Amino acid sequence: MATVSVLMKRLLQPFTGISEIYNPALSTFLLLLILLLTLVQLLKITRRSSNHLNLPPSPPKLPILGNLHQLLGTLPHRSLKALSERYGPLMFVYCGNSPTLVVSSAELACEMFKTHDIVISNRPKTTPANILLYECQGIGIDPQVWDRSEDFLPNRFFSNPVDCKGQDFQFIPFGAGRRGCPGISFALAAVEYVMANLLYWFDWNLPLGEVEENLDMFEVNGLVVHKKLPLHLVPTLCSPYS
Ligand code: HEM
Repeated sequence: MATVSVLMKRLLQPFTGISEIYNPALSTFLLLLILLLTLVQLLKITRRSSNHLNLPPSPPKLPILGNLHQLLGTLPHRSLKALSERYGPLMFVYCGNSPTLVVSSAELACEMFKTHDIVISNRPKTTPANILLYECQGIGIDPQVWDRSEDFLPNRFFSNPVDCKGQDFQFIPFGAGRRGCPGISFALAAVEYVMANLLYWFDWNLPLGEVEENLDMFEVNGLVVHKKLPLHLVPTLCSPYS
């Protein structure tokens, strides 16, 4: 605060003519006033720049931060889903100053990646890649698309024609369209190889005394959403050669 006071004193000296007598309360007040005016100006500029475009609905945003304050500190796919319930399946959010289109229904995802694929594919590769991932996650828990969408029911994929390769828009972990993941075959082979080996060589059980119903299924956000607490299982070797 002392440094600010000295700075204010020097700044104001030519206007006030006061060089010896200096009021710290006045300088703090002026500093706050300048900050407030800057904030108001920024707010006006942000509003003006989005007003003349016919953009999809967008939650109210803050200068500089945009909508980040509504996304940070929580699970982004949950926040985006909550926002989309209010502002619709096609909305604009601002990550700082970067406008980002959020598509959060399988139907619109299909529209974007099939009908308007060329426009979408030509977008610059910046934050939207991350946001798309949250979308993908949002659609994955959409109750309009999935029965008991919040429950862990791996059986739902048995004898289900829906696949993950970007043709069925209710399940697009690899994205879709021209900008979909080009590593999909490699990734599927790698995941299947590891899973097949783990399941072929071992029987898996919960540690003694634990039951499935009590498993903590809280999620946490990283590059992808994962379980907050790791799953502890006890493997028993069941090799056909042992
Ligand atoms: C389970 C594993 C993987 C998942 C879930 C995944 C998912 C994704 C997703 C959602 C995108 C964004 C698509 C979009 O923007 O529309 C993406 C892009 C990409 N992925 Fe993957 N991926 C995986 C593995 C891999 C592997 C193994 C490779 C390479 C060997 C790879 C290479 C890429 C590349 C280069 C892009 C950018 C494509 C572009 O911008 O045109 N991915 N991936």
